[in-house]
Amino acid sequence: MKIFVDTANIEEIRQAWEWGLIEGVTTNPSLVSKEGKRFSDVLDDICDIVDGPVNAEVVSTDYEGMMREGRELAKINRRIVVKVPMTAEGLMASKSLSSECIRTNMTLVFSSNQAILAAKTGAAYVSPFIGRLDDIGNEGMQIVREISQIYRNYGFRTEILVASVRNPIHVLEAAKLGADVVTLPFGVLKQMMRHSLTDAGLERFLKDWEKVPR
Ligand code: G3P
Repeated sequence: MKIFVDTANIEEIRQAWEWGLIEGVTTNPSLVSKEGKRFSDVLDDICDIVDGPVNAEVVSTDYEGMMREGRELAKINRRIVVKVPMTAEGLMASKSLSSECIRTNMTLVFSSNQAILAAKTGAAYVSPFIGRLDDIGNEGMQIVREISQIYRNYGFRTEILVASVRNPIHVLEAAKLGADVVTLPFGVLKQMMRHSLTDAGLERFLKDWEKVPR
């Protein structure tokens, strides 16, 4: 399972990349807006650090606008993956961009039926939003389970990118279901590393080491 980081914050991306733990980045308009920088500058900075897929979302809602934005984003760097929203226009744009060899990520996916349609467009990734489904009382991970089975049944090559991850349990569940990618907020990535027994164990080892004659 690949790990991407879900942020547009350059310090977080730099740190996660230096740790050697991530293979790509996802951004969305809300994450980019927090940085107070021009979108193209944010993407340039990320692409300078990360040698892997960098997901950047269009904000047009019509087909022509998505195509224009998608092509512009793809020109910034060959590693850019164009995120398009799960709408009829978005599906059309995903199909056309994919046929131009521009990789797409169908985003804002909340049902397995939507994921079937995403795969039909030749999207490189489909992004089920797990946390937001949990928020409204649905079991988000259930659609990852279904999408995995459906994609396996038909040999769809679209990768399942589990998004809207809120905690390490989401990561564990996604891994058990065989998701291709999870995209994590920086905080969840840090939470995955930690265990109180690791901290206590290290403290004890270092204390005992002080008694070793030098
Ligand atoms: O990048 C898309 C997704 O991961 C957003 O997550 O926490 O805003 O639902 P969230």
